[in-house]
Amino acid sequence: MKNTVVLVILILVVSVAVYLGLNAIGLMPQQASQQAEGIDWLFNIEVMAISFLFALIAVPLVYSLVVFRRKPGEEGDGEHIEGNYKLEIIWTVIPLLIVIALAYVGAWSLGDVIRAEPGALVVEVDAFQWGWKFYYPEEGITTNELYLPVDRQVLLEMESQDVIHSFWVPEFRVKQDIVPGQTTEYRVTPIEEGEYMVRCSELCGTAHAYMNAPVVVVSDVEFETWVEDQIALVPDDPGPNADRGEIIANQNGCFACHSVDGSVIVGPTWLNLYGSEEELSDGSVITVDDEYIAESILDPNAKIVQGFPPNAMPQYTLSESEIADIIEFIKSISN
Ligand code: CUA
Repeated sequence: MKNTVVLVILILVVSVAVYLGLNAIGLMPQQASQQAEGIDWLFNIEVMAISFLFALIAVPLVYSLVVFRRKPGEEGDGEHIEGNYKLEIIWTVIPLLIVIALAYVGAWSLGDVIRAEPGALVVEVDAFQWGWKFYYPEEGITTNELYLPVDRQVLLEMESQDVIHSFWVPEFRVKQDIVPGQTTEYRVTPIEEGEYMVRCSELCGTAHAYMNAPVVVVSDVEFETWVEDQIALVPDDPGPNADRGEIIANQNGCFACHSVDGSVIVGPTWLNLYGSEEELSDGSVITVDDEYIAESILDPNAKIVQGFPPNAMPQYTLSESEIADIIEFIKSISN
């Protein structure tokens, strides 16, 4: 009886200590979405449960090692215990009830997280190896930064061009996989203005760790201004236009793999690329011209430059004029 009382007290004390310790670490970043509160509440229950379960196992283990160790002169076996229906029923029924209750709480919370609000801002997300592209259908804008107005639900309609990626902004809490061949939805309501980062949280190849994009939450007014700026940014002369080429390349995530300063990220740099002679993986030598660049965008595996892996670049479906703009941009940084 004395042992039981001491154990119960020790388990409670250690549970609370572990819970407070885990909380002190600050496991969760800032809550920047309406959905975060419910998710953090659930997470907190989970931390309480693991603190208690840790104490429930570790405390009796250590206690037994110390208190019930063999005394000098003790030679016989321990008492043989077989079966205890009362105990077995208790340790089956109580966890069962807890798990059922958690299932209800989880379902209720999930319903809250995916609840659709009318008037949500629709953004189409294109995930690819290795970057993000955001298209605002109502506004007609394509960017590589996700700008969102505060206090308005956003509906992301997400597609992948190649492998499985996962959209994750830790401050928003909600996470969603993006599976090739289907459109997955993601809803979130940002409640804090600020700058965040979307990370890909599904291992997706060489540059997975760098598959980030800025997420900027701004006021309604700033969002409208940003939309107008984005529309005004793209020059509307018939082209080809190097400035527009740079914007198109940026929007399509080209700079995730191709630098413009001579450094090698994943693919060849664009600095001084136009007109240069490159040795291909089959040993032949080509001069980089309009035709070669256009082919490399539409069919990247046709001619691979020596030293670079095949299948690293996705096929792009860009229009002739968009390709002409990009070529014009590459020309502008080549001598
Ligand atoms: Cu995309 Cu990891």
